Amino acid sequence: MTINAIVKLVALIVVHSCCTESSTTTSSDSGAAQQLSHFNVDSAPDKMSTPDFDQYLGSYIADGERIALILDYDGTLAEITAHPNLTQMTPQMKSTLQNIANSGKAFVAVISGRDVYGVKEKIGIENIVYSGNHGLEVLYPDGTKHNQGIPKEIADNFTKMIDQLTKELAKDGAWVEDKKVSLTFHYRQVDAKLVPELEVRAKQIIESYGYRANQAHAAVEGKPPIKWNKGLAAEYILTDSFDTNWRQRKVIFAGDDTTDEDVMQAIKGSGRSFRVSKDPQVETHADFRIPSVDAVYQLLKWLEKKVTK
Ligand SMILES: *[C@@H]1O[C@H](CO)[C@@H](O)[C@H](O)[C@H]1NC(C)=O
Ligand SMILES: *[C@@H]1O[C@H](CO)[C@@H](O)[C@H](O)[C@H]1NC(C)=O
Repeated sequence: MTINAIVKLVALIVVHSCCTESSTTTSSDSGAAQQLSHFNVDSAPDKMSTPDFDQYLGSYIADGERIALILDYDGTLAEITAHPNLTQMTPQMKSTLQNIANSGKAFVAVISGRDVYGVKEKIGIENIVYSGNHGLEVLYPDGTKHNQGIPKEIADNFTKMIDQLTKELAKDGAWVEDKKVSLTFHYRQVDAKLVPELEVRAKQIIESYGYRANQAHAAVEGKPPIKWNKGLAAEYILTDSFDTNWRQRKVIFAGDDTTDEDVMQAIKGSGRSFRVSKDPQVETHADFRIPSVDAVYQLLKWLEKKVTK
């Protein structure tokens, strides 16, 4: 295996450990290859510049207009790295986002696949609403936390489920990622002969605690049995902050993952959304495609100018 292949393999594991969800249950190789396209960002030329956003948003957002900005984190505000712990925003990205959040003209929320305290720690800006686990958790700037409609009996089973999975199945290279309200059981490093049995058993255990077992790429995810996604989270956060008239707000969203498509659908028509992807053929509900994390930075620079005018 070449170094390059190893890096890609590690990167693929990381994507599935922190940022990808499999509600659509894609585990085909083409899906994986598509996700790997995010890792080529460094080498690809990136010609986006701030004035380019006039053409996308110029007629939508006037100088000094109040906006609601919703963002994904991994692959959108920060480059994806070989381990989720290593991921970080550039200082410029952070200061621009901070200026927007503190402008008095912008409501800012970040919705991530990470657990909510994890994403808050990564971004480190106070005046932002953070949402983790693809929207299951919402953490407000005043420290109030809201867990979306998980029945108590289900929540109470979570630790027991993690314990049993860990005790019984965390071996031969398999491991359990505890995301506080959901989990991912990873077995990419496990000998292929052992996988089918592991998979079946992991699903049995997850379901025996009343959770939903989803097949992911070399992983099984355990999620609370409620309908939830980033789009519903965005609607919840916007309604909570601006009541049901939120569609009259200028809502802008950017995200790079398939789970972000639910947000793009939720704000379609009234808001404006950007899918971060190098792939010109990417299937998306977004209004626009932009190529990279750096293009997201240019978008933020453009918005910063607008809200501080
Ligand atoms: C990543 O961060 C988690 C939580 O802070 C920690 O438990 C884990 O050991 C870290 N892993 C690496 C490889 O740094
Ligand atoms: C919680 O887990 C137990 C098994 O330990 C199971 O019998 C029970 O049905 C689970 N609760 C719910 C609400 O699914």
